[in-house]
Amino acid sequence: MKKGLSALVLGILLFSGACLMAAEEQKSPEEYDEDTYGPLAPIIWEKPVKSVIFEHKNHTQGAGLECDSCHDELFPMEAGASAEKEDFTMQTLYDGGYCGACHDGETAFASNTRCTTCHIGVRGHARLSGNAPAAEGHGAKE
Ligand code: HEC
Ligand code: HEC
Ligand code: HEC
Repeated sequence: MKKGLSALVLGILLFSGACLMAAEEQKSPEEYDEDTYGPLAPIIWEKPVKSVIFEHKNHTQGAGLECDSCHDELFPMEAGASAEKEDFTMQTLYDGGYCGACHDGETAFASNTRCTTCHIGVRGHARLSGNAPAAEGHGAKE
């Protein structure tokens, strides 16, 4: 009996938590101020590999970083610019360049972990650009 009750209470708590989170997510676009936090649209690179995502929101509004912690020493204010550079690779990140200036396991999670947090893959790219992949299960590498 008791067990059943606490499971029910836990279930309600989890459910309301999920509702709150959903509500937060829905209202944030209106409250997001691009002048304060940078462009809302995610930046997606397709070179050298498809696709890596960067969101200002997580970094400025979320992590509290100032614009000048990235601009212009690490990145120019131009979406896609870094993908034109030959050294835009994991090795440079591991050596502390680009994202690796912070994603070193101290300031932020290390670049050699959680690959899919940055790499949204081919499917993620398709989802964001509105083209659903033709079919699942063709073994597309992400
Ligand atoms: C954590 C790093 C980081 C921070 C902090 C940051 N940016 Fe950026 N920003 C980037 C990256 C990465 C790009 C894409 C550059 C590239 O592709 O080489 C970018 C691109 C831009 C662009 C160009 C967008 C476009 O569509 O061409 C603007 C404008 C910009 N940032 C404004 C800001 C402003 C304003 C702030 C502070 C409120 C800020 N950024 C803070 C990393 C950052
Ligand atoms: C100036 C420091 C800085 C730079 C440069 C930076 N980041 Fe971050 N990033 C952070 C911090 C701080 C967090 C939040 C703490 C954490 O998740 O470890 C974060 C979080 C993230 C997250 C997780 C967001 C989430 O919560 O889901 C992603 C993805 C990410 N960064 C991608 C990138 C990419 C890609 C680049 C390079 C284009 C980059 N970051 C450059 C500091 C930085
Ligand atoms: C902090 C964000 C971030 C994380 C974490 C990350 N990458 Fe990357 N990765 C990038 C960026 C940025 C690029 C360059 C842009 C592009 O290729 O679209 C890149 C490019 C690459 C490339 C092509 C260039 C090269 O170095 O050969 C490979 C392969 C790659 N990543 C594999 C991985 C693997 C495997 C992991 C996990 C062990 C990982 N990445 C984790 C951001 C990240």
